[in-house]
Amino acid sequence: MQNKKVVLAYSGGLDTSVCIPWLAERGYEVIAYMADVGQGIDTVAARRRAIGAGASKLMVDDLKKDFAEHYILPSLRANATYERDYLLATALSRPLIARRLVEVAKKERAECAAHGCTGKGNDQVRFEVTIRMLAPELKIIAPLREWDLTSREAEIEYAREHNIEIDVTSRSPYSIDMNLWGVSIECGVLEDPNVEPPRDAYQITTDPAASPDEPLYLSVYFEKGVPKKLNDSPMNPLDIIRELNKTGGAYGIGRADLIEDRLVGIKSREIYEAPAATILIAAHRALEALVLDRELLHFKEPLSQKYGYLIYTGLWETPLRRSLDRFFEETQRNVTGNVRMKLYKGTAVAVGRSSHFALYKKELATYTEEDAFDRNAAEGFIKIWSMPYGG
Ligand code: ARG
Repeated sequence: MQNKKVVLAYSGGLDTSVCIPWLAERGYEVIAYMADVGQGIDTVAARRRAIGAGASKLMVDDLKKDFAEHYILPSLRANATYERDYLLATALSRPLIARRLVEVAKKERAECAAHGCTGKGNDQVRFEVTIRMLAPELKIIAPLREWDLTSREAEIEYAREHNIEIDVTSRSPYSIDMNLWGVSIECGVLEDPNVEPPRDAYQITTDPAASPDEPLYLSVYFEKGVPKKLNDSPMNPLDIIRELNKTGGAYGIGRADLIEDRLVGIKSREIYEAPAATILIAAHRALEALVLDRELLHFKEPLSQKYGYLIYTGLWETPLRRSLDRFFEETQRNVTGNVRMKLYKGTAVAVGRSSHFALYKKELATYTEEDAFDRNAAEGFIKIWSMPYGG
């Protein structure tokens, strides 16, 4: 028989809070597990809420460094995105949270794991696919999928009946997911794809129109594809990401307003903010363009897309993702150098790049006297290049 102990992935928000009494009413001892992936958590309030709702304890787990090093950095090496403009913040955090959930369940000898995702999103898939891959013996409970708690109003009513504190954030008209790599915002008026997102929907970025009138220059130094310095000061990647979220946010960098194709077959509208991710990917791409040869650069592109797709669809813990990581790591051998970025009213553009491994040769590219390119060779090259087509 299954023991009645469950580890619940707990965010502190309304959705996961109402899961606690629901599980408790069904005889479970609920251990609330809270992953800190840089969303900014109020541990005291979260503990009060979780325990107040009936959890036997709240565990807070600082995963920021792990998240930055083992999830964000590989994703940056790959320049991973989904449908071009979603930089995958939410999607990337799920396999890490699921992995830890499994570890905690094992340690606590719990036979069940639970999450507060709804039945129509991507996150339920990411959590459960990861859990099933790592620990197929764990029973998974998804209260919000089983429950006929269909509206937000009903949920709030249930929370009231069960003495769950409802703070200001849970009354926000939006559903917000936040971590180091970015913010995802949906629901409320955003559900009308024809309505411009209101100002209050954005959480960490200034409206570009209201951002500073002077551009800001900054430089990022990469070593084998890993950001190591910001403005020439050595920093760890986690601090670089935090700093760029702040600075980039003030310049309105990294907003996206998308219609995306969910894994479960529906199109949805979501807005995103990812200042650090936007700046770092742009800088990284600029450096790669300087140091990678054409074949490698071009070959990497569709694999990046595939990698982003694997992250989006919950297939992080797969042989293909691991294999691609090895490939991307190898591609970064020479991705060492400095990129100068210009931030201005919502845009982050590379305006300078330098590297010992640069394949750019001024004497070949120049149109001045210094030109060393062999034009005669071009003639023969063109002849042969066009030959297959009757040239
Ligand atoms: N659409 C994004 C994804 O599937 C984010 C989902 C969570 N969004 C939210 N606002 N809670 O990865």
